[in-house]
Amino acid sequence: MVGLGYVGLVTAVTLAKKGNEVTCYDIDAAKLDMVARGDSPISEKGLEEELKAVLAAGKLSIVRSLADAVNDSEVVFICVGTPSKPDGSIDLSGIISVAQELGETLRVSDEHRTVVVKSSVVPGTTDKRICPVLEESSGKKCGDGFGVCVNPEFLREGSALEDGLHPDRIVIGLMNSEEGVVMQGLYDSFDCPKVVVDTKTAEMIKYVSNALLATKISFANEIANICDKLGIDVDNVMGAVGLDSRLNPKFLRAGLGFGGSCFPKDVSALAAVGREVGYEPKLLDAVLKLNDWQPTRAIQILKEEVGTLSGKRITILGLAFKPGTDDMRGSRAIPIIASLLDEGAKVIGFDPLASDNARKLFPDIDYAASVSEALEGSDACIIQTDDVIFAELDIKEFKVLGSGLVIDGRRVLAHKRGELESLGIIYRGIGVPKRA
Ligand code: UDX
Repeated sequence: MVGLGYVGLVTAVTLAKKGNEVTCYDIDAAKLDMVARGDSPISEKGLEEELKAVLAAGKLSIVRSLADAVNDSEVVFICVGTPSKPDGSIDLSGIISVAQELGETLRVSDEHRTVVVKSSVVPGTTDKRICPVLEESSGKKCGDGFGVCVNPEFLREGSALEDGLHPDRIVIGLMNSEEGVVMQGLYDSFDCPKVVVDTKTAEMIKYVSNALLATKISFANEIANICDKLGIDVDNVMGAVGLDSRLNPKFLRAGLGFGGSCFPKDVSALAAVGREVGYEPKLLDAVLKLNDWQPTRAIQILKEEVGTLSGKRITILGLAFKPGTDDMRGSRAIPIIASLLDEGAKVIGFDPLASDNARKLFPDIDYAASVSEALEGSDACIIQTDDVIFAELDIKEFKVLGSGLVIDGRRVLAHKRGELESLGIIYRGIGVPKRA
């Protein structure tokens, strides 16, 4: 496994748990030290326990050079990051430099090895960008001295290990049938459909999966914004719409929009690919545009209820892009906090896991160690993640808010609206009709 980020580490532990011998390498020596000790560099449910277990069982080991990782292995997974560039396209520098070094190792090896591109790369990248580098640096032909295939990941943060062990499907993009046999063997014990296609199609499937999920969310948000004006509760609408057997109710939850390391980046990258090939991606652009706008709705509601924000103290409950993670990437808390600070408000944030990471982005706001501390002395509060701890709060806690306003950005307290209002609390949410 080359690259021990989110995808690499979870894939390594998953494959080790399935009985394979997994060797891990990362350019970051400190990360390797952590993993060797059994400490997970990322906060992910169950990962550290399983990492310790596979280390103890001798199924997972750490090596200090890429050559050592490759020389021991039949299959080499490339799991390095492909971050977004300002124009939305992806930065391939990390993966190209791994391919270069990997090729140099393949040059001096007699064994046939399968190189698997697990990093998300846009359609055509493996054929047109990665293979030529591997061929040149190894002096061998793709499909001859070594094989290449594409195997995208569909891991959700917070349930990545579960998703890795029990995927809905496994997609394998092949250049030739020899690699197909290797990959089918590797995934033989996984009880799910295996979709075998060419490399370009496998790369496309990854982007289209995330783009469609992101589109469902932006669609639900657009409907929520219209429902707001009409006095209709969007959950009642989407709940019924999702019952159509041609649809399903998942990812139709309206709120403050999507974040994370995948949806914003993958939709942008797919839109950039469209542009590159001469097509203006109207729908994908709209999905992103609406998502960028959605946090503005919370600020609008805040102003409607409390007036000017200058000097007001506002609490943000949930800082990460979703519950169960410390990941701030793409979090809707970021534009919300930035707008509040622009308006002259004071901000206090609470998150069970992400405060340290949030502090790196917003060193000058206040951070609370508990929900009660976050609400104390505050004028209003915005719930930014659908963390179960917010859904289960003793609602009397909100009575301390100066204006009494709770904006439920993820509709976690919708079931307690009546109770909240009976305490004099003003309950507003995205797509929740305002009381007459
Ligand atoms: C996602 C994909 O689900 C996964 O398959 C892919 O490989 C990586 O990207 P992840 O980024 O972990 O996973 O987050 P996910 O649980 O999908 O949620 C993404 C965002 O959408 C969150 O900000 C969440 O709050 C938001 N969301 C999700 C909604 O606003 N409404 C919904 O109905 C569902």
